[in-house]
Amino acid sequence: METGSLLAGAGVLLAIVWIWFAVYYWLNPQLKNPDAKARMTGTCGDTMEIGIQFDRKHVAVKTCCWTDGCITSLNCIHAAADLAKGKSVDARLDIDADAIQRSIGGLPKEHWHCATLAASTLHAAIDAYMNIHHLDIEPSLNDNPPDGNA
Ligand code: FES
Repeated sequence: METGSLLAGAGVLLAIVWIWFAVYYWLNPQLKNPDAKARMTGTCGDTMEIGIQFDRKHVAVKTCCWTDGCITSLNCIHAAADLAKGKSVDARLDIDADAIQRSIGGLPKEHWHCATLAASTLHAAIDAYMNIHHLDIEPSLNDNPPDGNA
């Protein structure tokens, strides 16, 4: 094999790796110092994580999220993070599994647990923030779907 072919192959491989990293970090932006963070693993084995930065009025101004789950999990955790932006900690209960599944255009019943895990992860992050700042914590909504499949 010629040296030129080897170099071209190595260049293509490096380009693929670079594109993979760029897409990965574009899909999973990170906050350097989130005010609150939560990581939860569902019964399916998938893990989700949300980090949130708040302003002085306890409004979520920046969020980041991550999951090792399927594309539905990714959609749900991104939806939860997006729904939280611009909302105060008091509005956290409005962001439940139903709000998340509606924001992504609906979910089949077998993927409802993805929205439930995303909502639980978001609530855990906000509850952690409220604990740190000694804010009143009301009981979280029951995010379980009507059939209780979480
Ligand atoms: Fe595990 Fe969706 S398949 S959270």
